[in-house]
Parts: sequence; structure tokens; C-alpha cells
Amino acid sequence: MTVVARPSQSASLLGGAISLPRNPCRHAPARHACPWTGEEGTAGTVAVVGAGKMGLPLCAQFASHGWRVIAVDVQPAVVAAINEGRSHVGEEPDLAELVSRAHAQGLLSATLDGGAAAREADVVVLIVPVMLDPDHQPDYRYMDAAVASITDGLHEGSTVIFETTLPIGDTRGRYLPRLVAGGLLADEQLFVAFSPERLFSGAALRNLNTYPKLVGGVGAPSTARAAAFYDGVLDAEIVAMSSAEAAEFSKLADTTYRDVNIALANEFARVADRVGVDVGEVIAAANSQPYSHVHVPGLGVGGHCIPVYPHFLLAGAPDLELVALARRVNDGQVGRAVRAVELAVGALVGQPILVLGLTYREGVKELAYSRAVPLIEHLMVAGARVLAYDPLLSDEEISRLGATPWRWGEPSAARVIVTQTADPTWRDLDPAWFPELAFLYDGRNSLAALPLPPGIGYQGVGLPPGARPRPAS
Ligand SMILES: NC(=O)c1ccc[n+]([C@@H]2O[C@H](COP(=O)([O-])OP(=O)(O)OC[C@H]3O[C@@H](n4cnc5c(N)ncnc54)[C@H](O)[C@@H]3O)[C@@H](O)[C@H]2O)c1
Repeated sequence: MTVVARPSQSASLLGGAISLPRNPCRHAPARHACPWTGEEGTAGTVAVVGAGKMGLPLCAQFASHGWRVIAVDVQPAVVAAINEGRSHVGEEPDLAELVSRAHAQGLLSATLDGGAAAREADVVVLIVPVMLDPDHQPDYRYMDAAVASITDGLHEGSTVIFETTLPIGDTRGRYLPRLVAGGLLADEQLFVAFSPERLFSGAALRNLNTYPKLVGGVGAPSTARAAAFYDGVLDAEIVAMSSAEAAEFSKLADTTYRDVNIALANEFARVADRVGVDVGEVIAAANSQPYSHVHVPGLGVGGHCIPVYPHFLLAGAPDLELVALARRVNDGQVGRAVRAVELAVGALVGQPILVLGLTYREGVKELAYSRAVPLIEHLMVAGARVLAYDPLLSDEEISRLGATPWRWGEPSAARVIVTQTADPTWRDLDPAWFPELAFLYDGRNSLAALPLPPGIGYQGVGLPPGARPRPAS
């Protein structure tokens, strides 16, 4: 019999922790075809509209499989960097080398002119953000502009693929009419499909190699043409779905599932706080049952995807109860953290509080929907003096969020520290820098093992002080 403290396989059962084996490249060098008509073993020209954190890895991937790639962006600095063979996306392993190689091979260039790029391209991939407006409705301004920029360049044989997450029905209902307005016949002269981008920032190229690529067209010929494109440029499995709507829904289902799951983990954390156990221990044990995939609790959910796409689902189905409730639970985590801090140190008026980690997650320079923004606001409304640090942000970027920049290692009068990301840097935090420190709120449960002098309170999310594992000696 083997007795262990935690199930040894539990990490591999958690959704996000599954690491898929790499697929070897199964492609022989492609023959250039002009025009490209979907024939196996051939490569054409692809325009990628939106050369950001997701678009640039796509450009590099397509070029690495012999396609000529034209990146289109509205930011002159992005276009200039690509035309010099430089990646402007910092946190993506191998991307800089691939961009530089594709550029040197003459396979990658960039332009501000979407129409000209579409005219030259066989395939146009759209990957600009669709966000939320203040009423939580889809904000299409970037995608509408991107679509408008390519329409006059579309020609017989063009394939247009939306990779940006869209509400169900938008590929056909909102954008197809605009794409065929020039007179091209859908599914005969113009092929239109949706294929969700499901990559994880910081692992985009690895995910492109392993994640099945879902493709759904506005008709069978569009699905086939888009699937043929991906079959030539990706080494992952290509899944031809029954419709664009099914493909759109699959992305909303995946991300909404994760939001609801995290909300449940956050509620489990509340129970753990009450009964005095470590929710991490409970979840790891529960997940050793192969059908259980409880995610990780924390200060809430940020980034372009998970907090946004449940609202895309709700925009078309406002009667859904669980989805709306999960959003409220996850958004409520910041308020719960601030109340926990108040309970520990009393009224926050005038108290210096240091927030560590402002991006939506560690290692990714992205502030979209970061929970740091409402966290700083809540603390300031409560009267606290908010200091902040993030290794990915400049002092100016931190000041813009309303906090006073703190320099790593600088002596500080902070009475409270709140971690908003699980950056590994925090493990080197020295409590001696904070002589006034009274309380550490560990918003991502990443500092359970940090040695703290007696008298400094600690609380994680579902990790009450009594359940904090003793630091390893
Ligand atoms: N970032 C992620 O983790 C992630 C993960 C999975 C899927 N996605 C999907 O990818 C989409 C894009 O995300 P991202 O992280 O690459 O965004 P990003 O902000 O990093 O990049 C978007 C790029 O589009 C450009 N752009 C905006 N409007 C344009 C226009 N009209 N024409 C041309 N370019 C334009 C911007 O200048 C920017 O460079 C998201 O909306 C989402 O659907 C993102």
C-alpha cells in the first residue's frame, strides 16, 4: 500500500493542466499555388487581420508551413516591427525566432491596408478583439472596422475565416451579408467560416500544435475550404463541424464552462474558510475521481476570454440563470477579499496597501478585464492608499490604474499586501521590507509556503490561517 498526502495524479486531471503530447510535423514542403484552391500539398497567400498576441503566432505558424503571410494591423508600430522581422509580442516562447525566420525567407510582411492584403490573399483570417460595452453587450467596433477594411479586396475564390470569438449566429447573420455585398456568391465564389481561437497566451505555438482545430462554415463548401487551409498549416487534428453556429457555440461553451466551474470553486472556497480546511487539498482529492475537474478559486477571472464570453451567450439567451450567477460570483471575489482585509486590520482609511500583480494573470502583459482594476478601486473607495507592483508594467502604466508604483525590494510602510496574480517572483518577497506589515491576503493561493514572522496574519482564498501548511523547514 502507498500512503501519500495528496493524490499524485490530480494535477493531470485538472482541465488546464493537461499537457498534450506534441504532434510531429506531417507536412512535406508545400508547392506554391496561385490561386490556391484547397488542393492538398499546396500553399497560397494568407492575410491575418489583427497581428496581436494571437494574430502574430498565427502568422508565424502559417509561414512555417510555406504560406506567404500578410499581417494587417491598424497600429503603425506593429506593422513596422513585423516589416523589420521583429516580434512585438514578448511573452510567447519561440515566436521571435519564427517571426524573424519567416521575414528573412520573404514569407512574412505587414501592412496597414486591409483591402490590398485581401486582394492579394487566398485566405483572410480575422483575429481582432470583440469586447463588451458598458452594458455587457458585444462591442463590435474593431471587428466591424476590420471586416469593412477587407471587403473591397475580396475576389472570386477568397476564403474568409473568423477566429475571434463571436456570439452564436454572427458569422452568418452579421458578417456574411457584408462580405457578399459586392456580389460574390457564398459557398461558390466566396467561402466563409468560423474557427475559434482557443490558445492560451504564453503557450500559443504549443497549443496550435496540439489543440484540435474546430471549423464550421456557412455551408459545406466553406467548411471544406477552411478545413483544407488548416490541414495544410497545422499539425493538429482538424474537426469539420456541421455549421458556423456549432463552431461559434463550442467556444462559448468551453469558456462559459470554465467560468461556471471557477465560480463553483470560489463557493467551495467559502465553505473551506468556514470549516477551516484548505480548499486546494479538497479539490485535489475530489479531482482524483476522473469525472471531477474542479478548477482553482481566486480573486476572480480576467482577460479577453473567460469573463467576456458568458456575456456573449447571455446576449442571445438572457434567460440563462447559472451563467449569469457564475459571473456575479466571480466578480464578487474582489469585494470578498476587501472585506477579509477589513476584518483583519480594521477600517482601511489612510492605510497603505500594496497590490502585487496587475495584469489579468502572471506572465501576460494584458490588462483587459484584470481584477486588479476593481481591486484598486474598491481599496481606494474604502480609503486605502494603494501601492502596486507588476514586473510587466512600467511606473507610468501602474499610475494610470490609480496606484502609486512600488519598486521591488524598496522599504515600504504597507500594512497589507494583496496578491492579485500568482507570479513566482512573489516567493522571493522579504517581509523585512515591510516593517509595518500586519496582513497578507493571498488572492491566488500562491504564497502558502512563504515564511512570515509571527504577528503577520495570512489568508488565502479557501485557505484560512489555520489550514496554511507549515513552511518546509
Ligand atoms: N489573448 C488571448 O489569450 C486569447 C486567447 C484565445 C482567443 N483569443 C481571441 O483572439 C482575439 C484577439 O486577441 P489578442 O489577444 O490577439 O488581442 P490583441 O489586443 O493582442 O491584438 C489585437 C490586434 O488587432 C489590431 N486591430 C484592432 N482593430 C483592427 C482593425 N480594424 N484592423 C486590423 N487590426 C486591428 C490591434 O491593433 C491589435 O494589434 C480575442 O478577441 C479572442 O477572440 C485571445
